Formats: sequence, C-alpha cells, structure tokens
Amino acid sequence: MAIDLQGRSLVITGGGTGIGAATAIAAADAGLSVCICGRRPEPLETIVEKIRGAGGQAIAVTNDVTAPGSEIELLDAAEQAFGPTWAVFANAGRGLDRTGHETTDNEMKEIFEVNFFATHRLMAEAASRMVAHGQGGHLLACASCLSRFAIPRHAAYSATKASQDILCQAMRLELKPMGIHVSSVHPITTTTEFFDVTATVSGREESRALEETPRFFLQSSEQVAEAIIRCLRRPRPEVWTSRIVRLVTVARSLFPRLLDRRLRDIDR
Ligand SMILES: NC(=O)c1ccc[n+]([C@@H]2O[C@H](COP(=O)([O-])OP(=O)(O)OC[C@H]3O[C@@H](n4cnc5c(N)ncnc54)[C@H](OP(=O)(O)O)[C@@H]3O)[C@@H](O)[C@H]2O)c1
Repeated sequence: MAIDLQGRSLVITGGGTGIGAATAIAAADAGLSVCICGRRPEPLETIVEKIRGAGGQAIAVTNDVTAPGSEIELLDAAEQAFGPTWAVFANAGRGLDRTGHETTDNEMKEIFEVNFFATHRLMAEAASRMVAHGQGGHLLACASCLSRFAIPRHAAYSATKASQDILCQAMRLELKPMGIHVSSVHPITTTTEFFDVTATVSGREESRALEETPRFFLQSSEQVAEAIIRCLRRPRPEVWTSRIVRLVTVARSLFPRLLDRRLRDIDR
C-alpha cells in the first residue's frame, strides 16, 4: 500500500538548486513539510517562498554539510518546525573533472567530505533518531549512475558515488527490521548547475557536458524529483531514471572489456 505523505516531513541537503530544489517543490506539492539546506541563503529563500506561496510548508537552514555537527543543527531545526522527521534526502554534492592519477590527496579528501562523509553523518544521525522514535522513516542518498560504472576524468566523483551506493545497501539491510527504508538515487545527466560548479572547482573555464551529452541521455531535475516522490510513496531500494543506463550497469558487470572500449571514449 502506498504511504500517505500528507503531514510528514522531509529534510533535503542542497535544496536550493537543481535536483534538491525540484524535489523540495514536488514533495511540498505532495503534502510533505520540507526543510532544505545549502551554503547560499538566496536560492534557499527563493525555494521556501515558492513553496509557501503555493500553500506548502518549508523552512531553510543555511549551513555547510562538511561542518561536523551541521547535520544535528539541520535535523533539530526540522524537528522544531515540523515534529519528528519522516525522511531525509542526502543530496548535496559536486563533481571533480580530473583523471584519477592527477587527483591530489587533498582533492580526494575534499570531495569525499561533501559527497560521502556528509551523507553518512546525516543518514546516521537521522537513522538514530528514527530508531528512537520507533515510527519508521526513509533515508535517501543522491548517488548517480556513475556509482556503477566510471567514465574518464571523473574517478574521484565515481568513487564517492559508489561509496554512497554501498552505504545505502548496507544500511537498508540493517534498518529494515526497524521499519526504516533506505534508497539510493541514480540520476543520469541532469540539467543543473552541477557542471558549472564542477568546472569551477576543477579550475576549468567552462563545462560542455550538457551540450555534448546526447539528448536521449539528458533529463530535467523535475523528472528526477518525480521518481523520488514515487519512491517516498512506495519505497524501493534504488531509484533509476533511465532503463537503458541501468542495462549498461548490468552489461558493465558481465562484459567489462567491451564496456571499457565504449566508455573510454566519453569525453565531457
Ligand atoms: N546533474 C547531474 O547530471 C547529476 C547526475 C547524477 C547525480 N547527481 C547528483 O545530484 C546531486 C545534486 O546535484 P545537482 O545536479 O542538483 O547540482 P546542483 O544544482 O549544483 O546542486 C548541488 C547542491 O548542493 C549544495 N551544496 C554543495 N556543497 C554543499 C555543502 N558543502 N554544504 C551544503 N550544501 C552544499 C549546493 O548549494 P550551495 O552551493 O548553496 O551550498 C547545491 O544546492 C549531487 O549529489 C550530484 O552528485 C547529479
């Protein structure tokens, strides 16, 4: 039976832009109260105003997920506003356009801080609170299709996404007896700020990723958000937004040499 989302609450990191913002809006439309965070206050306020303007409930917390303790501040704020949190979506993240052998130790640690350690801190704190509350819940992490196969120059990024993926798999097994669902989300190329941010942190002038990705493999944040809301209603282990790319992940396991030949020519 589908879960009635009305009156429940959802915490989203990186909720001011892209996939996080689209999910916040779709979730509020579905009746959830939403608490979003990010480092920049302006985009967060824009989303909160949009949700409230449409009759929904939302608050924003300006914080940096890499600061230890920020997950406590975020969950406390959500709880104070809306009561015990039903679901969290660890979505804040960024890329790095760098080959594996040119990635420095520091760059590797920095991207793991945002994409993986912050995801773990939020999911662990939220899970502990859900267990104590005894009413179940739902943890989601925004991994990527690149959690299952790599493309050139995104080694560190894929490593963080694979780590999120396996963390979700393990936590799903552990938390199921407590009625807590855990889902990993695996978007394909999505039209967001992500590629500009990745170019900037990588010291590149611009990214041509969105222009160079075949239209067939492009999707909007709203498409990802819709799939996430479906998963909140009817929890499932993994959210995939492209059947073809999902098949690629299977082929990657069965025929690694063949897939390497196709994937090594991808340049974006
Ligand atoms: N776009 C794609 O093609 C794609 C594909 C697969 C997976 N994903 C994943 O989807 C997630 C969302 O990305 P997006 O595509 O929606 O890009 P985006 O618009 O750049 O969203 C990233 C969000 O994370 C926030 N953020 C980044 N670092 C943060 C930090 N240290 N503390 C708090 N918030 C932080 C950003 O806000 P502030 O800058 O204000 O902090 C921003 O709102 C990421 O995990 C990404 O890896 C994206």
